[in-house]
Amino acid sequence: MIWYLMSRAYLQCIAESCGKPLESKKDSFQCPHCGGLLEVRYKFEVMDPEQVRTQWHQRRLSGEPIDRSGVWRFRELIPFTEEGTRIISLSEGNTPLVGARRTGWWAGPVHLTVKHQGNNPTGSFKDLGMTACITRADSRSVRVVACASTGNTSSSMAAYAARAGIKALLFVPKGQISEAKLAQALDFGAVVVEVGDTFDQAFSLLRELAVEMGIHLVNSVNPFRIEGQKTIVAEMLEQRAWQPPDFIVVPGGNLGNISAIGKGLRELKGLGFIEKVPRLVVIQAEGASPFVQTFRAGSSELLAVDFPDTEATAIRIGHPANWQKALRVLEWSNGLAESVTDGEILEAKTTLAEDGIGCEPASAATVAGVRKLVRAGAIDRDADIVAVLTGNQLKDTEYVYRHRKVGESSKTRLQVEPDLDALRQALMDKLFAVPV
Ligand code: F0G
Repeated sequence: MIWYLMSRAYLQCIAESCGKPLESKKDSFQCPHCGGLLEVRYKFEVMDPEQVRTQWHQRRLSGEPIDRSGVWRFRELIPFTEEGTRIISLSEGNTPLVGARRTGWWAGPVHLTVKHQGNNPTGSFKDLGMTACITRADSRSVRVVACASTGNTSSSMAAYAARAGIKALLFVPKGQISEAKLAQALDFGAVVVEVGDTFDQAFSLLRELAVEMGIHLVNSVNPFRIEGQKTIVAEMLEQRAWQPPDFIVVPGGNLGNISAIGKGLRELKGLGFIEKVPRLVVIQAEGASPFVQTFRAGSSELLAVDFPDTEATAIRIGHPANWQKALRVLEWSNGLAESVTDGEILEAKTTLAEDGIGCEPASAATVAGVRKLVRAGAIDRDADIVAVLTGNQLKDTEYVYRHRKVGESSKTRLQVEPDLDALRQALMDKLFAVPV
C-alpha cells in the first residue's frame, strides 16, 4: 500500500526552556540540546472541516487498505509520510463506542460510553501507534525495532514488525506480564528478553543499550507512536456526530495515551473541527500512581514510585516517561487525575462484565475512577463520559481465574461429580435459590 503526500512534518523539543526543532534528518526521540522529549509538529494546510469530515466518512465505504485503517483514514491529521511511503497496516482502529448503562448507573449515575480499543488487531490501543511508528521506521530502512513493555506494546510491535519484515526485540520484566501477552510476542517471532523486576528497570536498560547499539526504540517516547494514537479522538468524535463529551477518561501508565489524546484534541480544535474541549482524566492504580501524586502536589519534578505495585500489570509503572506531556494536556483541558485501589478496579471490571463488556484490569480502572470522582463531587452526576477501554478481556485471563475461584462460595464456578442428582442439586442451589 503506497501513500503519496508531501511531508510537512518536523520534530520539536517539548521543553518550554528549549523548544528547538530537530535539525538532523535522522529520527530521534530525545532533544540533542536538552535531552527533552520530542513531538511531531506540522505545518497543516488550511482545511475545511466540513469537507474533510465528509471525505473521512466516505472513505469508510472504500475497499482500499489505507482507507480501511482507522488511523490512516484520518491521514490529513498525520501528514508525516513522504512520496512512496509503504503503509504498514493491519486495519487497526475502527473500534466500537458502546453504551454501558448499568456501569454508568453504578459509577454515577453518569451517561457512560466506552471506546473499546480491545477490538484492535492485537487486542489493545497500541496498534494505533504502532502502525504509525513502524511505517515511519520502515520508511527510514530501520532493521531492528525494540521496546520495553508491560505486554501490550510488545505484542503490537511484534505483529507490525513481522508485517514489515523488521526484527523485533523486546524487554519485559521477569514474571510480571500476562502469559497471553507474552504468547502473542512469541507467536509473532519477536526476540523476547525477560529482564529485571519492573517495567522501569527493563526500560532504562533498553534505553541505554538502544543508544549504544543503534536500536530503534518504539516505546511511546517515539513521537510517531503518539501520532497514530491521537487518531482515536477523530474516530470517537465522528462516532458522536462531532459532539465532544464532557470527559474522556484514560488509564495512565507510561502516559503516552493521554498525551496522544490531548494532542489530537488540541490539533482538532486548532483546525476548527471542535469548539468545546472535553476534560481529560487520568486514572492510575493506587500502588503505581506517580502521576496522580505529582499532579496533586503541583510538583515540577516527577514524584516517581520505585516499587510500583498493582494487579493491573499493564499500568504497573513508577517512572512514566511521558509525564510532562501528560501534565501539559491535563492543564490545557482543565483535567483531573485520580487513583483507585485494586479492589475498586475489580469491582469496576465485574460491573462492566454485567454489561457484557470484557476488558483487562487496567482498562476497568477508568470506570472505577469515574465512580470515585463522582462521589467526591469532582464529576457531576449525569455527565457525558467516554471511558477508553485500552485492552481486550483475553489479555489477562490469569486475573479472571484468580478472582473467580472454584469452590463452595463461588456463585459461578462449579466442579460437580458426573452424577445427575449431584448436578440437579448444584444447579438448583446456584440458579434458582431465592436470596434471603
Ligand atoms: N492500558 C493498557 C491495557 C496498557 O497496556 C497500557 C500501557 C496502559 C493502559 C497505559 O497506557 O502507557 O500510554 O499511559 N501499556 C504499556 C505496554 C506500558 O508496555 O504495553 P500509557
